[in-house]
Amino acid sequence: MSVIDEAGLFAAASAVRERAHAPYSRFLVGAAIEDEEGRLHIGCNVENAAFPLGSCAEAGAIAAMIAAGGGRIRHILVVGGREELEVCAPCGGCRQRIAEFADAGTTILLADGKGPARRFSMAELLPYGFSLEP
Ligand code: THU
Repeated sequence: MSVIDEAGLFAAASAVRERAHAPYSRFLVGAAIEDEEGRLHIGCNVENAAFPLGSCAEAGAIAAMIAAGGGRIRHILVVGGREELEVCAPCGGCRQRIAEFADAGTTILLADGKGPARRFSMAELLPYGFSLEP
């Protein structure tokens, strides 16, 4: 089931991407999550002059979801790029972050300038990921 359609997620991620603080890489990323109740949460990357302190768009969207009382990711759409929007593969750390809140039906959508271009399950994006359960 989906309340927010893919076009809505793409629009939200593209819009929040415009607010990214990325003066060092100039690579702007936006992420939009539909949670288990059909609510929208967004995030963008926030860089810092002390480079390792920068945070990814996915981390921001997940933090917004948790702060709003959400619990699981139904869909997450990511879009990035400097000038042109291009498919931005989530970094390894963000794959683990997404996995924390993903279920078997979770989809990870990667968009280019036209909309969703690639679609993955969590198992496809992070095979054999870390878990505390055996
Ligand atoms: N970035 C994200 O926001 N998400 C990812 O999954 C990959 C990378 C950001 C971090 C940094 O601000 C910029 O993109 C370039 O690495």
